[in-house]
Amino acid sequence: MSLPSSVRIVEVGPRDGLQNEKQSINVADKVRLIDDLSAAGLSYIEVGSFVSPKWVPQMAGSAELFAQIQQLPGVTYAALAPNLKGFDGALAAGVREVAVFAAASEAFSQKNINCSIGESLERFVPLMEAAKQHGIRVRGYVSCVLGCPYEGTIAPAQVADVARELYNMGCYEISLGDTIGAGTAGETRRLIEVVGSKVPRNKLAGHFHDTYGQALANIYASLLEGIEVFDSSVAGLGGCPYAKGATGNVATEDVLYLLNGLGIETAIDLDKLIAAGQRICTVLGRESGSHVARALSRLQTKELTAQKTR
Ligand code: HMG
Ligand code: MG
Repeated sequence: MSLPSSVRIVEVGPRDGLQNEKQSINVADKVRLIDDLSAAGLSYIEVGSFVSPKWVPQMAGSAELFAQIQQLPGVTYAALAPNLKGFDGALAAGVREVAVFAAASEAFSQKNINCSIGESLERFVPLMEAAKQHGIRVRGYVSCVLGCPYEGTIAPAQVADVARELYNMGCYEISLGDTIGAGTAGETRRLIEVVGSKVPRNKLAGHFHDTYGQALANIYASLLEGIEVFDSSVAGLGGCPYAKGATGNVATEDVLYLLNGLGIETAIDLDKLIAAGQRICTVLGRESGSHVARALSRLQTKELTAQKTR
């Protein structure tokens, strides 16, 4: 199969990236991150979550973020909503696109949203109705598509069933989440074959955490299978609070470098993206999780040192 000529990146750093942070992060720093990402040319940014602040304290100020960020025309600013209460909160904050999240693993569903897979899908029904009424688009996530931290192996057919349910209830796109980042390229291709038999491939997206360093290979495998939308996190920030040990999403900088190398269009400025990642990493007091950002910053340091000693 040939590669696509363009790819859409869903930037999940402000949500998936920051939700796992223990240290408190100022609203101003989050706003700056989101504005930096918009300025770098990202066309879709997941800003935050309207979930219980007892469950995920870091996402508590999401409404404030929507009030303060600069919303550029043509850019989608989205938020997670696990139930109608979350949807109402998002609507009140002026959010125009939400994402619901289910899992392909019963155990993970219980740990993450305190209900079974079936109950979670039932909860989404009134949310979908309300969204339709208000003209809000809804994206759907399926977690644990290539393994679960509690149940281990997950059958692709199980993922396909949940993906189809979400698609049939009106989610315009289903993002397949390798929550623990353990999947391999071969498993990814098989997963897409199976899920693709229940949901059109052009309605699927890949969401790869990079715990085992396989995310870029999985993205390449997905591209070969006709997937054209990928979620990623600037500087590789994050992880899921209910998947212990799982690291962040693949870094957006690294995905961009891969796509640029393949001649695939994204309309994102790599230098501005790297600067956005560096700024939030300074706030967090840590090194970037992006290989590309680290390599380029070492190169710059070397050049500066060489200039000074000339
Ligand atoms: P629950 O305790 O079963 O909910 O939590 P409940 O309906 O029984 O309500 C309990 C309390 O929570 C009540 O408050 C509700 O009002 C409140 P109280 O009376 O005790 O003061 N509540 C809410 N508050 C704010 N916003 C809401 C909301 N709903 C109820 N929306 C619930 C169920 C789903 C709320 C909870 O389990 C929860 O918030 N979970 C969040 C989990 C989460 O955010 N996980 C991370 C995101 S998913 C992810 O990272 C995976 C992904 O990246 C893909 C991948 O990598 O695989 C997407
Ligand atoms: Mg995730």
